[in-house]
Amino acid sequence: MPYFVNSANIYSMSKMQIKQIDKIDLDDIMEIETLTYPNHHWSKASFENEIENKLANYKCAITSKGIITGFYGFWQILEEAHITNIATHPDYRKKGVATFLMLDLVNECYKKMIKYITLEVRESNIPAISLYDKFGFSTIGTRKNYYQDNNENALIMFTENIWYDKFKTNYNKIKEDFNGR
Ligand SMILES: CC(C)(COP(=O)(O)OP(=O)(O)OC[C@H]1O[C@@H](n2cnc3c(N)ncnc32)[C@H](O)[C@@H]1OP(=O)(O)O)[C@@H](O)C(=O)NCCC(=O)NCCS
Repeated sequence: MPYFVNSANIYSMSKMQIKQIDKIDLDDIMEIETLTYPNHHWSKASFENEIENKLANYKCAITSKGIITGFYGFWQILEEAHITNIATHPDYRKKGVATFLMLDLVNECYKKMIKYITLEVRESNIPAISLYDKFGFSTIGTRKNYYQDNNENALIMFTENIWYDKFKTNYNKIKEDFNGR
């Protein structure tokens, strides 16, 4: 039986909201992007292309005062989602923003009947690796010298099938904990 998560339940206790990224949001997205990656960030034109891309899904978290605190993007390639970006504004880190974004990202994957979620992450990026661990991702391989700025290796992380009970149980637990905050 299809498993859909009711978005309203996810965010009922949250002061945050989530919305599709529009062109009007891109200055705020670029602020997060440039603060996060001062020397190797995406250009505004790249984000403009991404939000026009039919395979791409870009959404952001906003406070009740309309402040964009973080965003994510993924591409759907058949039954896989490839996470291209997830970032929280440095002023709002360690407050659950990325958890909120990941809850929505996985929910979008259920709605699109996606089975697996994957991404690449710098092997030194402990906050991001911990975030993905929390959501049930495992490291399945390494891309040597993947990042051109410093030749750092990338870890390739994958979920199991997100429709399996183990993944769903963990996902629902994170959602309940988040709503209970
Ligand atoms: C990774 C990142 C998105 C986390 O965002 P955040 O909003 O601070 O994350 P949350 O507060 O929702 O925390 C979620 C989980 O992430 C992990 N985490 C977040 N910050 C961490 C840190 N400084 N050290 C270790 N783990 C951390 C923890 O597992 C945490 O779960 P917990 O609160 O149950 O311990 C944020 O640090 C960021 O924007 N980093 C720069 C961009 C980036 O590296 N993106 C990933 C590219 S692959």
